[in-house]
Amino acid sequence: MARENWGSRAGFILAAIGSAVGLGNIWRFPGVAFENGGGAFLVPYLVALTTAGIPLLIMEFTVGRRYRGSAPVAFRRMHRNAEVIGWWQVAVSIVIGVYYAAIIAWAGWYGWFSITQQWGEDPGAFLMGDFLQNSGGFDAFTTWLPGIGIAMLLVWAFALLVIGAGVKKGIESTSKVFIPLLLVMFGVLVVQALTLDGATDGLNAFFTPDWEAVREPGVWLAAYGQIFFSLSVGFGIMVTYASYLKRKSDITTSAFTVGFANSSFEILAGIGVFAALGFIAFESGVPIAEQSHSGVGLAFIAFPTIINTLPYLAGLFGVLFFASLVVAGWTSMVSIVQVPVAAMEDRFGWSRLKATLVVGGAMAVVSLLLLPTASGLMFLDVTDYFINQYGIAVAAPVSIIVVVWALWRWKELRDDANATSTFKVGPIWFVCLGVITPVMLAGILYFNIRDLLRAEPGLEDYNQYQAFGWSIAIGALAFGVIMALLLRRKEVPPVETEEDAEIREEAAR
Ligand code: ALA
Repeated sequence: MARENWGSRAGFILAAIGSAVGLGNIWRFPGVAFENGGGAFLVPYLVALTTAGIPLLIMEFTVGRRYRGSAPVAFRRMHRNAEVIGWWQVAVSIVIGVYYAAIIAWAGWYGWFSITQQWGEDPGAFLMGDFLQNSGGFDAFTTWLPGIGIAMLLVWAFALLVIGAGVKKGIESTSKVFIPLLLVMFGVLVVQALTLDGATDGLNAFFTPDWEAVREPGVWLAAYGQIFFSLSVGFGIMVTYASYLKRKSDITTSAFTVGFANSSFEILAGIGVFAALGFIAFESGVPIAEQSHSGVGLAFIAFPTIINTLPYLAGLFGVLFFASLVVAGWTSMVSIVQVPVAAMEDRFGWSRLKATLVVGGAMAVVSLLLLPTASGLMFLDVTDYFINQYGIAVAAPVSIIVVVWALWRWKELRDDANATSTFKVGPIWFVCLGVITPVMLAGILYFNIRDLLRAEPGLEDYNQYQAFGWSIAIGALAFGVIMALLLRRKEVPPVETEEDAEIREEAAR
């Protein structure tokens, strides 16, 4: 059977936006921004977006379309030795998919709790106690929480159903419904947040820079990690999605559209969340700087607190917020799981059904065993930190160095992208991608790993779990190396896409 293509350009762009806009935007970004200097974080963030995020997105779109395969196959077609990068990225996606589902499930429950504000007077105690039964360590994996488990099962079932239905009928058609829906829901929410008392103070806290923070390598690493995670680049997603593009699709305009839409949504989420935090400060007298701002704390403690204090339409506010998290997260989750599923289809010739059931099913089982437990939050937090900072933020520059420098393919990719794009890329793209991004990341990673190994203050949350965190990050790379070695002698056959088949049939007539 011919390999699928997207049905339309709009369908592809919506699916790519669906992948990019996710928990990273609503759950991760506001917390990361606040912890890393508030307004000053926007400086490294915008530098990372323009010099690394968009250029890498253009590279990944071009690699996917040109080599017509999910990450391992696309890199293998580029060069036999590059396949390792694809499998490394597959491993990173598997790890992310495993914990990602849990947050969507929590959000689903919280949407329901919003209606009656079931978290009561103390949302923090409710979250850590009643809901997550957080043990604070890795020792409580045997305490399984059925409520969260069942919700996660639904998240997985729904995701695998869409992936199983295929690129056009599954991913493309659901994105066309969910992305406009998300925009409307989130738009209403932000407008509602901006009308709250104290909203301006919240925005001031968000946009007032702490310039000291810009000198910290950890802040820069967080910005790059956030951009890659949020744009879905560096872990195989955009290569995979672009592999279903038709030959003549415009690469650069699509990349700018997706990048701009994603960051607009992210900054909008920051505005909405901080306006709401300003409201808590106004009502409770506790300054914003002293409130809890980790991703989990923001979404699942700060928001319930806000909902408790809202003068009107509190339930609606809660439902809109948590439904936005579910919808945004879920379209991204589909794209994350599609990476390993498509890799098995393309590399081993498995049918879509088999790949979905075997790979998606195995991920679901691990996820359902580890996450809905009293140690789930710890697992999630440590894994999220390590797989982003030392998985994505390392795999991304390595892929760039290999493509641009080791294989010297940037000219070929540039010409390939330019041939069908309205906006042409040139030397600036090369300098951003090939020089600025790897140099910046090498420097940042060096200083950050040094601080982490020295157990510097600020990273103490992660210090005691370093063995676990490093095993995940290094394990992902090891998986890539092993797969590439095993498959070294197994060539990838050429592929016929639906578009090719149409052209062939047309010519035969
Ligand atoms: N890009 C996705 C997100 O932001 C993974 O959550």
